[in-house]
Amino acid sequence: MKIRYDLKPRSARRGEPFRPEGPLPFGQLRTDHMFLMDFADGAWSDPRIVPYGPFLLAPGAVVLHYSQEIFEGAKAFQHPDGEIYAFRIDKNAARMNRSAEGLCMPPVPPADQVQAILALLDVERLWFPEQEGASLYVRPFMIATQDSLGVKPSNRYLFCVFLSPSGPYYPAGFQEPVKLLVTRRFHRAAPGGTGAMKTGGNYAASLMAGEVAHKLGASQVLYLDTADRYIEEAGAMNHYHVTRDGRLVIPSFTDTILRSVTSESVLELGQEVLGLRVGQERIPFEPFLAALRSGEIIEAGGFGTAAVVSPVGAYVFEDGTELRVGDGRIGPNTRRIYEILTGIQRGTRPAPPGWLFQAPRQA
Ligand code: PLP
Ligand code: COI
Repeated sequence: MKIRYDLKPRSARRGEPFRPEGPLPFGQLRTDHMFLMDFADGAWSDPRIVPYGPFLLAPGAVVLHYSQEIFEGAKAFQHPDGEIYAFRIDKNAARMNRSAEGLCMPPVPPADQVQAILALLDVERLWFPEQEGASLYVRPFMIATQDSLGVKPSNRYLFCVFLSPSGPYYPAGFQEPVKLLVTRRFHRAAPGGTGAMKTGGNYAASLMAGEVAHKLGASQVLYLDTADRYIEEAGAMNHYHVTRDGRLVIPSFTDTILRSVTSESVLELGQEVLGLRVGQERIPFEPFLAALRSGEIIEAGGFGTAAVVSPVGAYVFEDGTELRVGDGRIGPNTRRIYEILTGIQRGTRPAPPGWLFQAPRQA
């Protein structure tokens, strides 16, 4: 793919590293440029890196009415060698295309997605935030742009990638465990639906549940399946727990759970690296609560790109009662997983082959 560059005459960051003054929020800042590419007449065209800014969209664009939209989330880090590396973006590209298939959208060749992200990171390398726990968050997405009100797949699309220099998703970062609301009132995904796809509608549908969670002092909802029998995942991260006998368990990936790149990475690192037997199972909800009460489950948390490894300190119920996980503090297994994963991402620990993609110096 030949990318056209239309760069700002003088980038805000040209020549000086980015050292944010206060704590960097998640997802609020933008860099100077974005990647764009159009789909029409059955083909992608005009891949380009241009100044970040609004684009024109017809009020009748399919995405605005019927939510034909998909997105991804990845992260890039500056390593001690001064170079920028993106974490497992081939996995994001593959998931983007699985979401595309589910939403009747055209795939973007995975190699082109990877190239687009790396080319943009190259242009924006000075935006890497030099702050503990911060990274360059990568947001690829695709929207349906045909000006049409028929409920059918659009014939035009826009693929875009932009970057956000970001701090931790939960403001306290890894310092403080989060609480999750467990409720039978809301469900995130139903069998045969879009739960395993990364599409905006899933997140729109989770907003009300999130508001209820916040009112009860929880950060997110831990969703159950539609029959309220099994633990599924949280609104922006997979769920895991650790048992006293040294097992780390993530709910099996079904069509109602997003296949998390972070979870897959933990599963691949496995016992040799993590010192825990790792695996996936369906997790029945009531026995899970019983195991928490009995102390058989000693740690729990969430895995995600934005969430990284987020320890859960307690589960909150709609009547306001809480059930603590262990002593409510961050456990040693969770701490070790966090250190290993972030060490690999930040280049202070060796990465398994193929996990890191270096942004080439070419712009
Ligand atoms: N589950 C949901 C619903 C998510 O939105 C995310 C975030 O991307 C995850 C899980 C974690 O997936 P990943 O580790 O690929 O970021
Ligand atoms: C991510 O972790 O990358 C996500 O997309 C989660 C979220 C911010 C919706």
